Amino acid sequence: MFGWYVGIAATLLAFFIYMAYFFKFNWVRDMRDEGKSHRNGGLGPKNRKVGKLPPVYPNGWFALLESSQIKRGQVKHVSALGENFAVFRTEKDVVNILDAYCPHLGANMAEGGRVRGECLECPFHSWSFRADGYCDSIPYAEKVPHIARTRAWKSCEVNHLIFVWYHAESAEPDWRPQPQMCIANGKWRFQGRNEFLITCHVQDIAENGADYAHLSAVHGPAMFLTDNISWLARHSWTNALWRPQCSYKSSETDADVDMDADTEVQIKLNGSSIHAISSGDGNHLEITEKRAKHKAGIQLHHSLILFERFTVLGLNVSVEQIGPGYVEMMINTSFGPMCILQTVTPLEPLLQRVTHQIFSPPWLAPYATMVFLGECLMFERDIAIWNHKKYERQPTLVREDRTILAYRRWYSQFYSANSPTYQTATNNLQW
Ligand code: FES
Ligand SMILES: [Fe+2]
Repeated sequence: MFGWYVGIAATLLAFFIYMAYFFKFNWVRDMRDEGKSHRNGGLGPKNRKVGKLPPVYPNGWFALLESSQIKRGQVKHVSALGENFAVFRTEKDVVNILDAYCPHLGANMAEGGRVRGECLECPFHSWSFRADGYCDSIPYAEKVPHIARTRAWKSCEVNHLIFVWYHAESAEPDWRPQPQMCIANGKWRFQGRNEFLITCHVQDIAENGADYAHLSAVHGPAMFLTDNISWLARHSWTNALWRPQCSYKSSETDADVDMDADTEVQIKLNGSSIHAISSGDGNHLEITEKRAKHKAGIQLHHSLILFERFTVLGLNVSVEQIGPGYVEMMINTSFGPMCILQTVTPLEPLLQRVTHQIFSPPWLAPYATMVFLGECLMFERDIAIWNHKKYERQPTLVREDRTILAYRRWYSQFYSANSPTYQTATNNLQW
C-alpha cells in the first residue's frame, strides 16, 4: 500500500515540476465576438460607430510573425497594413519580405511558392526573386529583363520577432527595435505567448498606458472573485507615470552581456539613446540614432491587497512603448525580473492582432507562468472595452486625464500626409 502512495506522490510531483518548468502558455483568442452584445439586443457590428478616426496604418515597424513560426526554406503569406507580404526564410537562415504578388501575372508567391537557396520562386511559372526584389531567373526565357522586380520590404528579426518597416511616404527607417540582451543571449527563456484579434483602432491599444484612471476601474477587481466576495482582494496600481521620448527600461538586464560582432549596443544618455547597428546583407540596416523620439516610457507599481490590510505580489513594471506597434515590459518581482514583449499589428483598418511573449530566467518559470496568466486575463478586460468603443477624437477630459492628450500628440508623429485613412484603406479591400 505504501508503495502506491509513493508512486502517486512521485507522479504528482513529476507532473507539478513539468507544469511549473516546461509548460508554456499558448493562449490564442479571437475576441471579435466577445460580449456577444448584439445577440442580447445590444449593438451588433453593423451598428457600431467608429468615430472620426486618425489614419489607420501608422508608420513604423510591425511584427508579422514570430521567428518560430517560419522555418528555413519556408514561405508564409501575411496580410496586414493593407499589403500582402511574402515572408520567407532562406537556406542561409535570413528572413526576407517581398510583396506577395508576382509582377509576371500576379500569382501570390506566398501561396505555393518555394524557397530556392536565397530566392523565392513563384508557383505559377517559376520566376525566381532575390531578397532585393529583382528577378534572378526565368526558366523558359533567354534573358531576365531588369524591370522584372517586385517590392522588397525592409525587415528585421529581433527578439524572436520578424518586423516589417511600413511607411506611407516610403521613407527609410530612422530607428528599429533593439535586441533585449537577456533574450538575445539566451539567458532568459521563453515561457509562453498569447495572441488576440481585437476590433478597434490601432492607437486605442497603446493609449492604455497613458490612461491612469482605467487602471483601478478595469484592472482593480481581483481575478476569479465574483462581485459578492470582491472585498476579499483587489489589485492596486500606483505610481503610474507616462512620459514621451523617455526610457524607463532597467539597465540591469543589459548588464552581463557577451558582446560579439553581431551584438548591437545601446547606450542611454539622459533619456535619449544612441544605437549602433551592425550591418547585414539584403535589407538590413545601418542607422545611428540620437533621439528616442519614437519611444514613450510608462512606469507603474502593482500589488494585491488582501482584506484591505495585507499587501502581496508587488511588481514594478517599466514599460517602453517603441514606435506605434511594439512594447517591452520589464517586470521586477520580489523573486526576480521577467520581460513581456507586446506586438500590435493592424491586419485591417480596425482589426488588430496583438501578441505577448514572456521571457524569464529559467528558475523563475513557475512564477512567470503565473504572472503571464494574470496578464492574459487582465488584457482580456481591456479587449472587452476596445471591442465595443468608438474612437473619440475630442474626448471630454478632466485635468487628471491630461497624459491622454500628451499620448495622442506623441503618437501623431507616426502619421504622415499619405497615411491611409479608414475610407481609403477600406476601399482597397475589394476581395
Ligand atoms: S505569375 Fe509568377 S511566374 Fe508567372
Ligand atoms: Fe489596461
